[in-house]
Amino acid sequence: MDNNRTFTMIKPDAFSEGNTGAILQKITNSGFKIVALKLTQLTPEKAKAFYAVHKDKPFFENLINFMVSGPIVAAILEKKNAVEDFRTLIGATNPEDAAEGTIRNLFASSMSKNAIHGSDSDENAAIEGAFHFNENEILNH
Ligand code: RTP
Ligand code: MG
Repeated sequence: MDNNRTFTMIKPDAFSEGNTGAILQKITNSGFKIVALKLTQLTPEKAKAFYAVHKDKPFFENLINFMVSGPIVAAILEKKNAVEDFRTLIGATNPEDAAEGTIRNLFASSMSKNAIHGSDSDENAAIEGAFHFNENEILNH
């Protein structure tokens, strides 16, 4: 995968508050094309595997409990410079620091309930996309 795809999850807080439609609209209005999309719920095993990089952090247990607390929407998005542009679109991890108009500024309420995930590198985008989707669930064109 080159630098034209990223992976996202609309987190349980944003899904349960009914913000999925508004967030997807903002993503597509910002030039991202949806190439895979799924409504699902993480098991503790999947959530721990997905966030394994944080397994020794003090917030890990809290993060896992939150991520399994309700449905999420997973997607693979396509755009030139996707990873970096998507991180800009979602804003800082802590919504108090998220720039005006970003998804976390608009829809997140705290450091843990921060509405959305975005891959932090091309390598992780490929790993995370493959974690949630089979090849036949991804549009190829
Ligand atoms: P994400 O992976 O979910 O897109 O978030 P991120 O890159 O902006 O932040 P990351 O450092 O990867 O952390 C993953 C999630 O863990 C929670 N977190 N809590 N100090 C804390 O309490 C703390 N630090 C991180 C956040 O919910 C963050 O999204
Ligand atoms: Mg991260």
